[in-house]
Amino acid sequence: MRETSYRAPSPLVKLPARIVVMLSGRGSNFDALADACQEGRVPAAIVGVVSDKESAAGLEKARRRGIEPVAVARKAGEGRASHEERLVDAVRQLGPDLICLAGFMRVLSPEFVGEFPLRILNIHPSLLPSFPGLHAQRQALEYGCRVAGATVHFVDSGVDSGPIVGQVALAVEEGETEERLSERILGLEHRLYAETLARVLAGGWELHGRSVRFPNPGAA
Ligand code: GAR
Repeated sequence: MRETSYRAPSPLVKLPARIVVMLSGRGSNFDALADACQEGRVPAAIVGVVSDKESAAGLEKARRRGIEPVAVARKAGEGRASHEERLVDAVRQLGPDLICLAGFMRVLSPEFVGEFPLRILNIHPSLLPSFPGLHAQRQALEYGCRVAGATVHFVDSGVDSGPIVGQVALAVEEGETEERLSERILGLEHRLYAETLARVLAGGWELHGRSVRFPNPGAA
């Protein structure tokens, strides 16, 4: 067994936690997290939404909930590093305890990730480590998988590669299309993200190598 490399306090941070959501698109996971916070299933408040895309539909979803989102689009001719610096600044100014990537389609730099160690979560529509990157559901279908699913993981500087915190699986139906599989996985994502976030915030978990151990073995 690998030695404990981190033991989380309980609770992880002063509750309710301040969460910043980063997104690039539709924002259904953001909506689900916001519902979970409002309904008391997650002891947190979403204090900001930051997007790298001005056209993200998730921005309107934030406004409807009374959150003024920040869109930091890449300017013409702007380098990646400068764009990311502006994104990071927007997040920093919101003073988050935790950052939730929810359909945020960029890889964060090691510098950004290093500023928030074990404090950035991401949700990905596959059973990692299988099928990181884009079109995860299509990759699973093309591979001929009989089981697919979603993963919530801590973010490191790789692509969908950090320690796994929560997973959910479903059986792929015979002849299932990418659209239908994506939709079915998305339904599971919404629950998984909120439940996993609540467990992370409760704290008391340990990181052994890259394996996250929760204090109540046997729970999902
Ligand atoms: C979700 O399926 C999420 O898992 C995926 O993008 C979708 C965003 O939907 N994320 C990734 O593929 C990250 N690698 P949403 O904007 O409706 O939450």
